[in-house]
Amino acid sequence: MSNQQKQYSGPDRVFSGMQPTGDLHLGNYLGALKKFVDLQHHHECVFCIVDLHAVTVWQDPKILASQTRNIAAAYLAAGVDPAKAIIYPQSAVRGHTELAWYFNCVARIGWLSRMTQFKEKSGKNSEKMSVGLYDYPVLQAADILLFKATHVPVGEDQKQHLELSRDIAQKFNNDFKAPNFFPLPEPLIKGPGARIMSLRDGTKKMSKSEPSDNSRINLTDTADMIAKKIRKAKTDAGAIPDSLEELEGRPEVANLVSIYGAFSGLSDQGVLDKYAGQGFGVFKPALADLAVEILQPITERMNDYLANPDETDKILANGADAANQIAEPILAEVREIMGFWRK
Ligand code: TYM
Repeated sequence: MSNQQKQYSGPDRVFSGMQPTGDLHLGNYLGALKKFVDLQHHHECVFCIVDLHAVTVWQDPKILASQTRNIAAAYLAAGVDPAKAIIYPQSAVRGHTELAWYFNCVARIGWLSRMTQFKEKSGKNSEKMSVGLYDYPVLQAADILLFKATHVPVGEDQKQHLELSRDIAQKFNNDFKAPNFFPLPEPLIKGPGARIMSLRDGTKKMSKSEPSDNSRINLTDTADMIAKKIRKAKTDAGAIPDSLEELEGRPEVANLVSIYGAFSGLSDQGVLDKYAGQGFGVFKPALADLAVEILQPITERMNDYLANPDETDKILANGADAANQIAEPILAEVREIMGFWRK
């Protein structure tokens, strides 16, 4: 922790978000959502559905709102409790876009040009991508700092964006001689689900954008689909080894072991101790049973929320009010610090 972080005297606050761009998968659940549920018991938490981020690539206006409700339903079904944590859609809190503009004037082009996720998403077509996609990490910094959040639970793929958020916070504090105004937010990445890989290729992360649905387990999958996808998951001819070193060079096996660990609470070595010497004919059904046992109740609760959109909408509207109440005074201070006119 830097000296500046130590001197920040505001309250601890957790912020995170997910894009409403399709069904959530096991990576989203183990990498982030499961952590949201744990954190809400001991921290003030703000969980956003980042629809402003989603529109950096084309989204059909006819389905964007329902996609937002889907993610809200997943948050609630996984156990995020609206009595404990704020859940709201990003576009319902105008401060995100306002602070993102101020941060556009703080962040440097060179910082953004180093962002690997933009390079991955745009490939050879960067000239044809929206300006929003390029600027995405600045909006992400604004999301976090609009609440002066100190801790951000995310998967490993968000590490670089979190570093940028810290750089922006630090530069704002320095440029405007406002020491410790913004905290330097700490990513909460560690944990067994930080990087869940594709079931078809253990060197690629599990992702919504991968064309093969067999590469991921979705939170909306039925028990049969989960079992089938695990049965079909790529492995090799060997058995489960007894040491972590022997997992090296076997990325698909390592991934299944860490998924088992994330579900069961066992360490990777604990999983190996339990299954060493067994073949996948034993391990895969055991993993499928565990996955179904944990995910099916979530899917069922999610379907209940989806059948009652009014209830979800009420939670989102209350959440937006609560989020605005935290954000507005912080924004007012930012305007003051930056010297904007006021009556
Ligand atoms: P998004 O919507 O792509 O993913 C949501 C969360 O899921 C995590 N995740 C994974 N974790 C482990 N293994 C995987 N295979 C995997 N795939 C996804 C992501 O790390 C993330 O935590 N930029 C963010 C959304 C965002 C945000 C924020 C997050 C916008 N503003 C402010 C934190 C704070 C994103 O696109 O997440």
